[in-house]
Amino acid sequence: MEYELNFVGGSEVEETRVEGGHIPVLLAEVLAASRVRPGQRWIDGTFGRGGHTRALLERGAEVLGLDLDSEAEAAARALEARWPKTFKWKQRNFKELKTCSHEHGWDKVNGVLLDLGVSSPQLETPGRGFSFRGEGLLDMRMDQRSGSTAADLVNELSEGDLTKLFYEYGGEREAKRVARALVARRRHALFRTTTDLASVVAETLPHRRAGGIHPATKVFQALRIAVNGEQEALVAALPQAIEIMQPQGVLAVISFHSGEDRVVKQFLRERSAEWLDTPRHPNTLRNPICHLRDMKRYLPGEEEIARNPRARSARLRVAVRNEEILL
Ligand SMILES: C[S@@+](CC[C@H](N)C(=O)[O-])C[C@H]1O[C@@H](n2cnc3c(N)ncnc32)[C@H](O)[C@@H]1O
Repeated sequence: MEYELNFVGGSEVEETRVEGGHIPVLLAEVLAASRVRPGQRWIDGTFGRGGHTRALLERGAEVLGLDLDSEAEAAARALEARWPKTFKWKQRNFKELKTCSHEHGWDKVNGVLLDLGVSSPQLETPGRGFSFRGEGLLDMRMDQRSGSTAADLVNELSEGDLTKLFYEYGGEREAKRVARALVARRRHALFRTTTDLASVVAETLPHRRAGGIHPATKVFQALRIAVNGEQEALVAALPQAIEIMQPQGVLAVISFHSGEDRVVKQFLRERSAEWLDTPRHPNTLRNPICHLRDMKRYLPGEEEIARNPRARSARLRVAVRNEEILL
């Protein structure tokens, strides 16, 4: 079944650089697709600096904002001061979407937005360790209150586990070679900083230097995903989003790399197919969990990419909850 349509660009929303220097990605497309109306209840599971939340509030929606990162709090408090009745923020993981919604007194919501990954301020603060562009401790935790850091993983995982991690979460084709080099190096000096790790990866992959992305890009992406359990959180949150959604409710997910987009795409496909006629189900059956319809995929236009290069790899997938469960 063909269900993807591409909508490119087309924005009547002006550039909004919110506090802390994060430009919300695909904002016009999120707003157009979400059909937000006054009084609707939305959960923004990835509040960041509140770019998308602010636009929802300005259109009269009530918003519960979640973010793992305590550094989102200042922007959140500013929005709470401006919209005290309609906005609340909590430092929580969106993998607890349903619990957070119920704790907030919402049994059902009209929309859930997930804008995955890290924000520009997180990437651009060397001390957070997300980027190799500035020297910082290899941390990468969105929630700095607990959990293993990227340094812990690089210094403690076996060569096999590092290989798997770089391959599966980073799509790094030379994962084994990188893992071997890191394990050899850490025998005499543990990794502590971003620039140290980046230069060892670059030395291991010298043929990658010319022209393309930095040789350590995929390794850094993989470590960030592992440190923050990003894949697990997404897999846990998607079914909860459908569960707490009103009929006609909207699920909007922005992803930035093919691994997470694949998770979203497969989930939407499973939950929207009215009929199951795959090799697993040779006798065509009605899908007992068909919850979604009207799926669309949106990509950023050239104008948005020129304005905000971070948008280059973004893709937004949107689906609408069925009136009723088809049984
Ligand atoms: C791309 S930014 C979102 C930017 C936001 N839409 C804006 O316009 O400012 C992603 C944010 O989600 C947060 N985040 C990522 N995974 C999370 C999770 N599992 N639970 C809660 N927050 C998460 C990150 O800390 C980061 O602040």
